[in-house]
Amino acid sequence: MAFDIDMIKKVYTNMAERVDKAREVVGKPLTLSEKILYSHLWDGSPEKAFVRGKDYVDFAPDRIACQDATAQMALLQFMQAGKDKVAVPTTVHCDHLIQAKQGAAADLKRANETSSEVFDFLASVSNKYGIGFWKPGAGIIHQVVLENYAFPGGMMIGTDSHTVNAGGLGMVAIGVGGADAVDVMAGMAWELKFPKLIGVKLTGKLSGWTAPKDVILKVAEILTVKGGTGAIVEYFGPGATSMSCTGKGTICNMGAEIGATTSTFGYDESMERYLRATDREDVADEANKVKAHLTADPEVYANPEQYFDQVIEINLSELLPHLNGPFTPDLATEVGTMTEKAKANNWPMKVEWGLIGSCTNSSYEDLSRASSIAQQALDKKLKTKAEFGINPGSEQVRYTTERDGILEIFEKLDATIFTNACGPCIGQWARYEDPKNAPKNSIVHSFNRNFAKRADGNPNTHAFVASPEMTAAIAIAGRLDFNPLTDKLINEDGEEVMLDEPTGWELPPKGFEVKENGYVEPLADGSGVEVIVSPTSERLELLTPFKPIGDEIKGAKLLIKAHGKCTTDHISMAGPWLRFRGHLDNISNNCLIGAVNAFNMKTNMVKSQITGDYAGVPDTQREYKAKGIKTIVVGDHNYGEGSSREHAAMEPRHLGVAAVIVKSFARIHETNLKKQGMLGLTFANEADYDLIQEDDTFNFLDLNEFAPDKQLTIEVVHADGSKDTIKVNHTYNEAQIAWYKAGSALNLIAAENA
Ligand code: F3S
Repeated sequence: MAFDIDMIKKVYTNMAERVDKAREVVGKPLTLSEKILYSHLWDGSPEKAFVRGKDYVDFAPDRIACQDATAQMALLQFMQAGKDKVAVPTTVHCDHLIQAKQGAAADLKRANETSSEVFDFLASVSNKYGIGFWKPGAGIIHQVVLENYAFPGGMMIGTDSHTVNAGGLGMVAIGVGGADAVDVMAGMAWELKFPKLIGVKLTGKLSGWTAPKDVILKVAEILTVKGGTGAIVEYFGPGATSMSCTGKGTICNMGAEIGATTSTFGYDESMERYLRATDREDVADEANKVKAHLTADPEVYANPEQYFDQVIEINLSELLPHLNGPFTPDLATEVGTMTEKAKANNWPMKVEWGLIGSCTNSSYEDLSRASSIAQQALDKKLKTKAEFGINPGSEQVRYTTERDGILEIFEKLDATIFTNACGPCIGQWARYEDPKNAPKNSIVHSFNRNFAKRADGNPNTHAFVASPEMTAAIAIAGRLDFNPLTDKLINEDGEEVMLDEPTGWELPPKGFEVKENGYVEPLADGSGVEVIVSPTSERLELLTPFKPIGDEIKGAKLLIKAHGKCTTDHISMAGPWLRFRGHLDNISNNCLIGAVNAFNMKTNMVKSQITGDYAGVPDTQREYKAKGIKTIVVGDHNYGEGSSREHAAMEPRHLGVAAVIVKSFARIHETNLKKQGMLGLTFANEADYDLIQEDDTFNFLDLNEFAPDKQLTIEVVHADGSKDTIKVNHTYNEAQIAWYKAGSALNLIAAENA
């Protein structure tokens, strides 16, 4: 089941029928995003226009993809829903649980030993419920999806934030929490607030050292990590069509870093070339028949301001390579301006590692262009100053790049070729014995995220994000401020040399090749397959339904008031904790341990209102739970940004937190809180965040009147007895309020299947 051509034909038939209707109800020409959204309505043909940024709409996605870390909880939940088979084509990809240490062969062997319990569980659940299973080492979910499943005009959801990568092949592909995936696997609609639309017009053409990565690094600078929230970013213009399909994938991939719902590009010849090169001639043929539906109406791109909520224009001919970071992907520095900035900020100038790969930049084109730089180090007798690490995106890319001598070039520079997996991108890089006390240093990588500790667990690692070719150049030079456009390097003979512009192949001239792609087709009838979860397992635990929180929250205590950035990494840390993803109670011991307590600016150190003592967040919360005391978490802007993990919602829920009140939410996390039957609320008056004190008690005054578009009122009682009454907003609709009342969305699904 590489892909289902009949399903794709059906999507195109629907598009042919529904796009005209959508144009009629909307009353104007349509963007590509609208064409895809309106042709995937759960209720079929569009009957009315939806208000962007306001209306909740039920959709019918064509596919689901899950990675191994998030699939555990998603499938544990799906098992609770009482179904025989997934309702929508679904795949599971084993990529997150593979540590990067010695190199591919040894690392994969060790992962297969240490995580066999989880891989076996995922393989057996997949086999039982008709889910395609990609074994460890087969590749990174988003590269494998792009190579095998993504198709122009399709809609997909995935239990990973970077599902959006498939926009490179013209999809609307959206990262969701496991609970959303479970809805769709169980044959239910998937609900999304109809997104706003941001148009990015790309003029000019990339050349020289500038790569597709620099487009998104620039967009991140313009929009910041919050700028895409609630919006689909649609790229168009001559600069868009001149880029490769995988380059478009890179741009869409990092749309997650600006908070965008997703990003997409219209169908063009680069996509057709990629489909044909990846053995999907029939998809390309079908797409060609409905070309007009796979891009916006011509009026839209001619007058984008009339059709998008915001328009940005970037001239690719003027764009320079960028380095974004450290610690946030929107802190952009143009090549050539790094020296002063790094000195002023005390960023370590010496670069110790250059990492190329991840789901963001691991295509054949990426590796071939980066290798053209690496080859120059050999030809020009340059000694590389930093170490190289490479993680290919898929076994197909790895096999083909090995066949074509590309990997060998890196190996000659003593690069470590890691497994075709996430590895160093997700804190799974065993770089140090003791990462917490590791030294301050800089690294450059072609990944997407660079939060503190993201790569190697070392809070002092300053990670900068760049294109693969710039990563290669900077690793060779070993200096953060190296500008390959102007700077010379001294080679082993003491001569000054410069690096030439990168060159490479969009697609392998001899075609893709792979011997063992790592795919396992599920049984047609999996009813006889037994899924075993040991009751003594540390890593997997069957779920028990949450009890409803109810409409009486009185005397709730403040657990933590989080200061500043609080991503899902801060709420549910990755790295070593990944091993407990399938065991809710055990992983809850990492609950909010990365969040900074606003009262002492420390992590994992909060005051217990029971004892008055300071202790870790999970331990303190378990004391409250044991005494039946409800608690509240308070947070800042864009709370829960970052990866889509629903553990960040399930853990507080499991430990007894009743509500999270913040200045603003990241979309996926807010939905996840709702799915788990919790309250996710925002301060009506942002300044009320400052009113919250360490010893506060919260009384919800009108929760019994919980209703859509109606503020809630909370009495905040301070330690001295004084009180403030604050208003909070919420975005719950009727259905979501029903989840809250049932205890969780899953409780409702199970009740319907009973
Ligand atoms: Fe994996 Fe990093 Fe992508 S964790 S899915 S390579 S963002």
